[in-house]
Amino acid sequence: MSDLTRRDFLKLLKGAGALLGVSVVATPVVAYLYPPKLEEVPSEPVLVCVESELPVGEAKTVKFGRYPALVIHLPDGLKAYSAVCTHFACIVKWNKDTGEIDCPCHEGYFSPEDGRVLHGPPPAPLMPLIAEVVDGQVYVKVGGES
Ligand code: FES
Repeated sequence: MSDLTRRDFLKLLKGAGALLGVSVVATPVVAYLYPPKLEEVPSEPVLVCVESELPVGEAKTVKFGRYPALVIHLPDGLKAYSAVCTHFACIVKWNKDTGEIDCPCHEGYFSPEDGRVLHGPPPAPLMPLIAEVVDGQVYVKVGGES
């Protein structure tokens, strides 16, 4: 260690900086090419009473396998999406005031109607899921139109 010259130290620092720079550039490229995937999970009941807990205009984030899902009660029915943002996998949230699904990490915005990207950096729409009401409870399943 005592043999480390100032020049060697600066070379090391330069190499570390270059490595950091490459990772900063490569990470979004890799995330774009390999977006996070929702693993196939069986239908699970989500214990949400539609009438009392999820009135029109409200949404709820529920556990869906290893990932959260967002169930939104729109005037034309229930919509459900994976709550995992397609950009860097942050968890999206329903914004009742704007009527959009927001990703707070990098200001990504999605449509509650079909999950498409309205604006911001996400490269793909939210993964659609199916929300079904059985005996007043919501069931979320893999599937849905994108
Ligand atoms: S992680 Fe959602 S916009 Fe970046």
